Amino acid sequence: MTMQPKLKSKVRCKDRDIGEVTRVIVDPLSHEISHIVVSMNGDGERQVPMGQVETVTDSLIELRTLSADLLALPPFQRDNYVTTHEVEIAHLEEKVHVTPGEVLVPFPELEKSVKRRTFFMNLTHVIGFLIGLPIAFPVLRYLMKPMYQPFDNSWLKIGNVGKIKQEDIGVQFKYKKHVKEAYMPEAEVEKNVWILKATPAVLDKVYQGKDMEFRDASGKTVWTNKKEIPYVAFSGKCPHLGCGYKWRQHKVLGQVFLCPCHLSIYDAAGKVLDGPAPRPLDALPIKVSAGGDVEIIDMEFKAGTKTQIRII
Ligand code: FES
Repeated sequence: MTMQPKLKSKVRCKDRDIGEVTRVIVDPLSHEISHIVVSMNGDGERQVPMGQVETVTDSLIELRTLSADLLALPPFQRDNYVTTHEVEIAHLEEKVHVTPGEVLVPFPELEKSVKRRTFFMNLTHVIGFLIGLPIAFPVLRYLMKPMYQPFDNSWLKIGNVGKIKQEDIGVQFKYKKHVKEAYMPEAEVEKNVWILKATPAVLDKVYQGKDMEFRDASGKTVWTNKKEIPYVAFSGKCPHLGCGYKWRQHKVLGQVFLCPCHLSIYDAAGKVLDGPAPRPLDALPIKVSAGGDVEIIDMEFKAGTKTQIRII
């Protein structure tokens, strides 16, 4: 399959024509189309993975699915996506003929979990109102408890610095983390940090002459990154809205950290060079053993704020 699905193309299931493409969903990192959103001739919208697409011609998309199976899918949830109107999608504009609002990217995970927490807080208020505090209290306590738990400051071993071959170059380290949120089953999430072996000039920009302290919910210092240790770790989430970013070659700026969601650009020290990011990349506590094993504390900070507010 070589052609990209186009907006307004007719969509045909195995048994009949079903509707037309109203939007496309794009992977924020690869910029490839991951899903098409199909308006089902008055039956709402459904989101169809590209895996279900059999053939694409200039004006018709044929699916491997039967219309009844498509109708059985849950309606498309617009809230889970943001538009990419600020994103450079030149290569897609040519192929797909999109206008702003028609290309979507998944809502960043971090913001989703903030929304979920707000929902649970509202829910507890409603319960309190309806059934009275004496009965609601244990429920409230159960729901609220995870929010009052202290942050997890345990060290995670994520790899070895032998992987870093050059100074001042971002190298991605991936790791898995167990998470448990209120009402959610325990799950393992894939996370990543960017690690740099920094030259003194870059190190100076990161630390600005001072050691960097990291604190717990109570304000107690849990770790201090010493300003002369050359290894720096940056949280894998862009401080703008929490997207994952990459180490990329930029035409004018040379090698930078680039976030594809709204094109924030950071230098090797995490400083914002361009884009909507409100603060530099978030450095994390890091320690490197004599054998080169890297450990970090997996902290997260609120997206979109100028000051750093720890949330995990
Ligand atoms: S999430 Fe908006 S620039 Fe990174």
